[in-house]
Amino acid sequence: MTITLNSPLDMHLHLRDGEMLKTVAPLSSHSFAGAIIMPNLVPPITSIEALLEYKSRILSSTCRDRFEPLMTLFFRDDYSYEFLKEAKKEISALKLYPSGITTNSEGGVSSMDIEGLRDVFEAMSELEIPLLVHGETNGFVMDREKEFVSVYEQFAKNFPRLKIVMEHITTKESAELLGRYENLYATITLHHLYITLDDVAGGLLRPHLFCKPIAKRAEDRDALLDLALSAHPKVMFGSDSAPHPIDKKESCGCAAGVFTAPIALQALASLFEKNDNLQNLQAFVSENAREIYGCEPLSKEVTLEKTPFLVPDSYGGVVPMFAGEELDWSIKSVS
Ligand code: DOR
Ligand code: ZN
Repeated sequence: MTITLNSPLDMHLHLRDGEMLKTVAPLSSHSFAGAIIMPNLVPPITSIEALLEYKSRILSSTCRDRFEPLMTLFFRDDYSYEFLKEAKKEISALKLYPSGITTNSEGGVSSMDIEGLRDVFEAMSELEIPLLVHGETNGFVMDREKEFVSVYEQFAKNFPRLKIVMEHITTKESAELLGRYENLYATITLHHLYITLDDVAGGLLRPHLFCKPIAKRAEDRDALLDLALSAHPKVMFGSDSAPHPIDKKESCGCAAGVFTAPIALQALASLFEKNDNLQNLQAFVSENAREIYGCEPLSKEVTLEKTPFLVPDSYGGVVPMFAGEELDWSIKSVS
């Protein structure tokens, strides 16, 4: 059995910089036609100059493949309309992090009070720049995303022309919210379709499955599965593949992030096939994103086949999800 995907897109990807970029970027560019690149470097990407330099480093690291990095700027509440108008030519979106909520987000927004965000949100609405949000409060870890629902509602109601993407949703409440506001969309990761908190911490602690937002309950995962498997038109695949060196994961202060880029399409094919929904995979990994972002990806055909694939223990010192395990789908060819 095979399936050919046309221009798969990863709408939420961490590529890092320096040596890590050189290690991980080709693993995405091999099988994806493009990706939304997260700006949480140190320091974060907040200027057009830094963004263009980063983009050119990404392009050099992926030069053997046809791959388009779709760049984002790190959200700041003091960006001017003129700045955003210039930035618009180079970016696909702005990414908003609540301050300190996850890896390298210290420079994020400290209050979600819309009065402080109004000017930038209005400019983004006017310029048609999408807002991508890491939607968690700093409350109890299992409740952080649920508590952010009221913030999403405020944003969606007050700025109806602003396209808002709830990034890496993990709860049934977020899944329900999608249907309530026309201008809300979402990305879903691979790992949140597979795991619950039990897989992370129910037995021996599994640091390579630790991420933010943390995986939740089975009923939450099932709500995400319903959306993904039916390729709900407001939902896109965004891996949130977030590589960290092995010593930062297997450590007493484990960094958050699951590295899935090189195994994502194989594991998605397996999941969609097992659930008799292989026909919806194309929409989930490409069509919906094109529609939502209004983008036309580079052409790339990725053929997957139902042949075992032994996932390597590590890719250059970064441990992927399913390391050492066998997936039943593999990549046959890319053209
Ligand atoms: O688990 C995560 N890792 N969640 C994020 O939001 C950020 C990411 C990272 O950059 O490592
Ligand atoms: Zn992320």
